[in-house]
Amino acid sequence: MIFIYICKANQVIKKERAMRIDIITVLPEMFDGPLSCSILKRAQDRGLAEIAVHNLRDYTTNKHRKVDDYPFGGEAGMVMQIQPVDACISALKAERDYDEVIFTSPDGETFNQPMANQLSLLDNIIILCGHYKGVDFRIREHLITREISIGDYVLTGGEMAAAVIADSVVRLIPGVIGDEQSALSDCFQDNLLAPPIYTRPADYKGWKVPDILLSGHQAKIDDWRYEQALLRTRTLRPDLLVN
Ligand code: ADE
Repeated sequence: MIFIYICKANQVIKKERAMRIDIITVLPEMFDGPLSCSILKRAQDRGLAEIAVHNLRDYTTNKHRKVDDYPFGGEAGMVMQIQPVDACISALKAERDYDEVIFTSPDGETFNQPMANQLSLLDNIIILCGHYKGVDFRIREHLITREISIGDYVLTGGEMAAAVIADSVVRLIPGVIGDEQSALSDCFQDNLLAPPIYTRPADYKGWKVPDILLSGHQAKIDDWRYEQALLRTRTLRPDLLVN
């Protein structure tokens, strides 16, 4: 077992095992790409994250594997039924305890970096991907602990939202990205946009890298970066500075 000690928000937290994310969906194939490359693949290969995708249709008692039905009261569109969702979540909960059962929906709380930070400290989470017109509201009342939107627009289903959440959370698990510092200096950590960064050549077609970055004075470089982060935030996202 790996023990990792991390410092976050002035707390020392000990992570003893990989974070587990169970994703429940009617379109499991949509996760083949996101889970099989880049950060999410590396985290799984290193045993730092375990991501399991469950086909909701495997849990229905309907002989045609249907998981949706017409809404009571007559409205357009189909509604995800409670039976397969309850069966799937119950089967998962019989295996282990879960910290959160998340539902992806455009009317959930808007996802942001502090939420990603919080979720990255949990051990086991379930993400139910919404689909169709919506889900039987009793799912949200009785089975879900948190509802998350990735922005004020409507996607065809919650799968892409689940992939976005998984990616942003898993990259924060200690050891997943090479340089710990690089997750801490991301945009939105400390409510600031990241300062500009540059690489070689120092002069390209006369477009020059700021002299300060070539000066070798680390304290001055840190001050410059902080000022630039503040300036960019004030210009582009003043809402982040309100509090
Ligand atoms: N499902 C459809 N639109 C969504 C959104 N914006 N965020 C999360 N889940 C969604």
